[in-house]
Amino acid sequence: ALRGSFARKAQKPNQSSHHGLQLQASYKVAILGAAGGIGQPLALLIKMSPLVSALNLYDIANVKGVAADLSHCNTPSQVLDFTGASELGNCLKGVNVVVIPAGVPRKPGMTRDDLFNINANIVKTLVEAVADNCPDAFIHVISNPVNSTVPIAAEVLKQKGVYDPKKLFGVTTLDVVRANTFVAEKKNLKLINVDVPVIGGHAGITILPLLSKTKPSVSFSDEEVEQLTIRIQNAGTEVVEAKAGAGSATLSMAYAAARFVESSLRALDGDGDVYECSFVQSDLTDLPFFASRVKLGRKGIEAMIPSDLQGLSEYEKKALEALKPELKASIEKGIAFAQKQP
Ligand code: NAI
Repeated sequence: ALRGSFARKAQKPNQSSHHGLQLQASYKVAILGAAGGIGQPLALLIKMSPLVSALNLYDIANVKGVAADLSHCNTPSQVLDFTGASELGNCLKGVNVVVIPAGVPRKPGMTRDDLFNINANIVKTLVEAVADNCPDAFIHVISNPVNSTVPIAAEVLKQKGVYDPKKLFGVTTLDVVRANTFVAEKKNLKLINVDVPVIGGHAGITILPLLSKTKPSVSFSDEEVEQLTIRIQNAGTEVVEAKAGAGSATLSMAYAAARFVESSLRALDGDGDVYECSFVQSDLTDLPFFASRVKLGRKGIEAMIPSDLQGLSEYEKKALEALKPELKASIEKGIAFAQKQP
């Protein structure tokens, strides 16, 4: 379960689970920004999940058609569409998992931080509505810069008096997916077996793959470590440049986000063996938020795994120290933004 693909784990709703109980499609998922480049394929992948009974799609435009289209797939969940601020509250009522890919993506030459001014406000507004309508939900923040938007979400939830740090997640699954793919390619490993933890944050050098902790255990030359680390850190930019102005990663991101949703639903459903990397409130380092592997359970994060940060290679130790100032600044920028506009 450490690395399972969401599709592989899924069961049909009328199959019995290994406990002999009927597996019920019973969770409600909302996607905010559902008509976008990530939102649409993500909605499709979640529509395939047997654990989902309701899929609520929200956007400021164009979401009616997406929902009508998806609703014809003969999988269990009921798909509903919600357009514009006046329908946001209804979209969120009773929801168990809220996924937020709303906002603008990068164009060539932009950093994730260049998106701050637009996306900070979008995330703030959406999380306020989450606080008012489904404060117990797991919140998955995809909108960049994740290193700042997650601290913004935390502040908003605190202001509303409903912050549960165990249920707020910055989605960094794509970094793990990329690391797994690139390592398997380079080392000729069977992809399905490879699992590389990725820690830190979700931008440039704050993305730190722990290649020394790759499973199954593999050895890398110093040169391979350097090349792989840089490729994983720049993988998003690789896609931005290839798309040449048409946006950033959407399909691989949707795949990664769907895996994180499926992991969350399995955890909610009582699976006791669910681990994912995510950017969360953390006491593993001196930074208030940090991405690392967490164990997911019914109430959100059940445990952090401090041993993941022990026994790092010299390269990783240095890279960890080097990323801290940038990550700290991004976190503080998010907190300052949220605090100056109550
Ligand atoms: P997109 O522009 O294709 O879609 C964004 C959607 O958000 C649009 O449908 C738009 O109408 C909607 N939207 C805008 N303002 C909104 C609001 N106030 N409320 C609800 N919806 C709103 O962009 P794309 O490619 O889907 O990317 C979305 C975000 O995901 C970007 O910020 C991007 O940087 C981020 N991203 C994050 C990754 C990660 O690993 N965490 C990876 C790739 C992208």
